[in-house]
Amino acid sequence: MRISAPQKCLLKRRCQHGCHVEGNRESRTRSRGRCSGWSRQSELVRGFIFLCVTLLYMDAKPAQGLDIPVTAGKLKRAEELFLKGNAYLQDQDFGNAVLSYREALDADPKHADAWTNLGNAMSQAIPYSENQKKGLFNEAVKAYSTAVQLDSQHCEAYFNLGVLYHTHNRLDMSIPNYEKAIAIDPNHYDAISNLGSAKHKKGDLDGAVDLYQKSIEMIESGGTIMSDKAGTLSMLHYLLGQALSSLPPNRCLGSPCPERAAQQFRTSLRHNPNNEEAKHALSALISDPETTSASAAYVKSLFDEYAESFDKALVADLNYRAPQLLHEKVSEFVGSKPLPVFGVLFDAGCGTGLCGPLFRNMTRTLVGVDLSGEMIRKATERGLYDELVEGDLVESLNQYGASEGKHKGTYIDIVLAADVFVYIGALEQIFSACAASLNKGGIFAFTVERLEAPDAEAERAQVVNINEAPVSQEDYDRGWKLRFTGRFAHTRPYIAALAEEHGFRVHVHQDIVPRRDNGVDIQGHLLILEKN
Ligand SMILES: C[S@@+](CC[C@H](N)C(=O)[O-])C[C@H]1O[C@@H](n2cnc3c(N)ncnc32)[C@H](O)[C@@H]1O
Repeated sequence: MRISAPQKCLLKRRCQHGCHVEGNRESRTRSRGRCSGWSRQSELVRGFIFLCVTLLYMDAKPAQGLDIPVTAGKLKRAEELFLKGNAYLQDQDFGNAVLSYREALDADPKHADAWTNLGNAMSQAIPYSENQKKGLFNEAVKAYSTAVQLDSQHCEAYFNLGVLYHTHNRLDMSIPNYEKAIAIDPNHYDAISNLGSAKHKKGDLDGAVDLYQKSIEMIESGGTIMSDKAGTLSMLHYLLGQALSSLPPNRCLGSPCPERAAQQFRTSLRHNPNNEEAKHALSALISDPETTSASAAYVKSLFDEYAESFDKALVADLNYRAPQLLHEKVSEFVGSKPLPVFGVLFDAGCGTGLCGPLFRNMTRTLVGVDLSGEMIRKATERGLYDELVEGDLVESLNQYGASEGKHKGTYIDIVLAADVFVYIGALEQIFSACAASLNKGGIFAFTVERLEAPDAEAERAQVVNINEAPVSQEDYDRGWKLRFTGRFAHTRPYIAALAEEHGFRVHVHQDIVPRRDNGVDIQGHLLILEKN
């Protein structure tokens, strides 16, 4: 059993519009969670207002005044303020939304819908610090819990509580809340699909398959009205394909699970031909040699979503060590030269900047480039890089040593790429861009996953992955293969030949374990090349 890529976010929050009892779904205002994203500038403004508002209200007692009778005038006022809060929430003005809901609740502390939407505003706000993040989470939990305390049939409050726990990876808390929402409303397809996603994340693949299928059937049967039906169906078919592709091949009825998974990815693409996750998953499942690298859109979408949890997921959970291993080997290579050894260090695919603290003192100028804007944002928070660029690494490299442009006449002293070429199969363009942009004697240091000869790979596949397509001699001769995991692996001879062809001397070519995955060591290799 295997869950390879981090799961695409499927989580929606539902916002109450005073219609939770028998409401018709079209009339509900809805808000999406962090998945949707918004511009950084307006985010900062909202964040600032929100900070002020939450500082005012952080200690408010949610259940205060629940027993006090409320006059008709106050009920009317509460409703008006509640609707005002909804308008702010719809505009993603979380600070004013919180303020309005709080005022509504001062007038009528039993307004369960206002508690629910207060929870939505709190949980979607952008925190400024880890402490504030915790505070917001706790406040949102209190708000939803007060709603269900006031109305035990408040389906959306249970659902939103499930989403909140889910987004904080508290799956054991999220699952029972989705189940409560579904018990109240068995047609709640969002709760059904999210429950599928939570079970998928927990490794209950059979449970996930059943729930995704159920949700798809409900949506396809036409009984539901939704804004982006094709997009939702595309994502659900993709997730169903992911779960099926991880099951033992003979578990599925009719045809082997990988074939059923491929069908699901194709259906996903029929609903949305631009679903990059489904495209990449299909390429990986059939190990398509035509796919020479992951698309920029796929990489961006994957890492924009992954950025927040990347450091914890990789370093703490997967024992990720590529930056440390590169640092050890580069330090050994430069020996006792005085610091800073380098003029320009180019951190290709810098991600959240894990190489930054290790290499900062070795270089006068530290440059980081990454396709994912969210990864760049996390790297910026470190305050260690002189320049951070959101873009493709080859395009950025090509600006060095060029005859015009910002980096005209400047050459790089060291290019680092820690765990980046797992998203790129054919490395020819990268080698040629490095050769052109590095100073003579410059260093190209990187890690890759290792592709072994067919026999050795067959042995590995038995341990690691039940559904991996066998490695053919053709794959090995090509020098790289897109694995079932969605990552590329490269052979030793391919890398060595590229180095020679592009004028690099190989100083280190060493087997490493850059990280673990599902309890198994990933086999890789690390290279230190010097430009002749
Ligand atoms: C596994 S992360 C590693 C990040 C960082 N090097 C580290 O060691 O923590 C891979 C990173 O490479 C970036 N990436 C992949 N392909 C890229 C490309 N063609 N150009 C720039 N960045 C790329 C991804 O966005 C992602 O942040």
